[in-house]
Amino acid sequence: MTAQQLPGQPQLAYRGNELFLEDVRLADLAHQYGTPLFVYSKAAMLAALAAYQRGFAGRKAQICYAMKANSSLAVLQLFARAGCGFDIVSGGELERVLAAGGDAAKVIFSGVGKTRAEMRRALQAGIGCFNVESEAELDVLNEVALSLGQRAPVSIRVNPNVDAKTHPYISTGLKGNKFGIAHERTLATYQRAAALSGLKVVGIDCHIGSQITQESPYLDAMDRVLDLVQAIEAAGITLHHIDFGGGLGIDYNGDTPPPADALWRKLLAKLDARGYGERQLMIEPGRSLVGNAGVCLTEVLYLKPGEQKNFCIVDAAMNDLPRPAMYEAYHQIVPLAPRAGQGGTWDVVGPVCESGDWLGRDRALNVQTGDLLAVLSAGAYCMSMASNYNTRGRAAEILVDGTQAHLIRRRESAADTFAQETLL
Ligand code: LLP
Repeated sequence: MTAQQLPGQPQLAYRGNELFLEDVRLADLAHQYGTPLFVYSKAAMLAALAAYQRGFAGRKAQICYAMKANSSLAVLQLFARAGCGFDIVSGGELERVLAAGGDAAKVIFSGVGKTRAEMRRALQAGIGCFNVESEAELDVLNEVALSLGQRAPVSIRVNPNVDAKTHPYISTGLKGNKFGIAHERTLATYQRAAALSGLKVVGIDCHIGSQITQESPYLDAMDRVLDLVQAIEAAGITLHHIDFGGGLGIDYNGDTPPPADALWRKLLAKLDARGYGERQLMIEPGRSLVGNAGVCLTEVLYLKPGEQKNFCIVDAAMNDLPRPAMYEAYHQIVPLAPRAGQGGTWDVVGPVCESGDWLGRDRALNVQTGDLLAVLSAGAYCMSMASNYNTRGRAAEILVDGTQAHLIRRRESAADTFAQETLL
């Protein structure tokens, strides 16, 4: 049987008229576990990681998976076993890393609003580095560390003021963003950090945005960060590592981000040229490790043709797949078993009571009630951003490995959704 690979979707292919992820027929999973259902390919995740590992071969580099992209325990376990550390942004994420068997020493803690309790727990767990985002945070971290008789390892997140050329909600490296320390304040902030006895300066970091599909913002940001490294070290403060953040985009709809290894060949050439090739490097990729490794399966509940719009109402919704509603993001939607013939043009929408609850607009699909569809590129920022809005239990998750399908999260029941609540 000839397999027809879907562009940009590793491990996803039609065999005959049926969609498979690795060697598992997706319709079988939908029937067995119900819909909506997230299904991830282990091989696709490991292949995405391998591209970075190839890029860094022979270098001192630590990949810290930005787990906000998909923080399901089995996914974390997979990356931990493959040698990854983790970029976390909350105490909750730290607990997940520990529950999944991750190594606290390889954890870096990002985010503009760490609480004292989160700092304390992270220090007690022995995380590798705090990526500090403000001068006020330095003072608080210093106090918390001293109260524990510890020195907190810190890196300062600098804002290189480069345009990542991505959606404004996911662009973080510009002056108007809440993230990082302004370029001009960096040296003074490092001097302040170095003078605090509860802190130990270990690195510098930046992150300029997400779903970046061009090389130039990375190359520009690297130049600016290296200028800062030079200035900081000239002032007598040694930086053990340089962390370039995450942000590499994926193919949602014909997007053509550079492959991770090709991008890093260029970035490493620049590092070498500027004399920093031997430095310990860190990166924080999220989306590019998991985004194209997953799909969300959904069933067509009703077809509702109209005068202006035809609606294809499915059982997945904005609570499962929030990206279209939040960012007008595009996810391809394909049938698990394509029907012959033309079909119509449909807005694919969910059951949630909001006009913003759409998954795809004006899609050419030949569908009938009861058909199964796959929303593609759903491995990143879908389940991790899912909610219980409309008291919809969150979907189940499957990790496929060859012919095997592992249930890694059972479907939430209605009782699960209100288990924390009490009546008066
Ligand atoms: N490091 C830091 C400090 C970050 O803030 C982020 C993402 C990452 C790393 C990972 O970036 P990635 O490699 O995944 O692009 N919910 C949005 C994306 C938000 C990204 C937030 N920060 C979306 O669905 O597009």
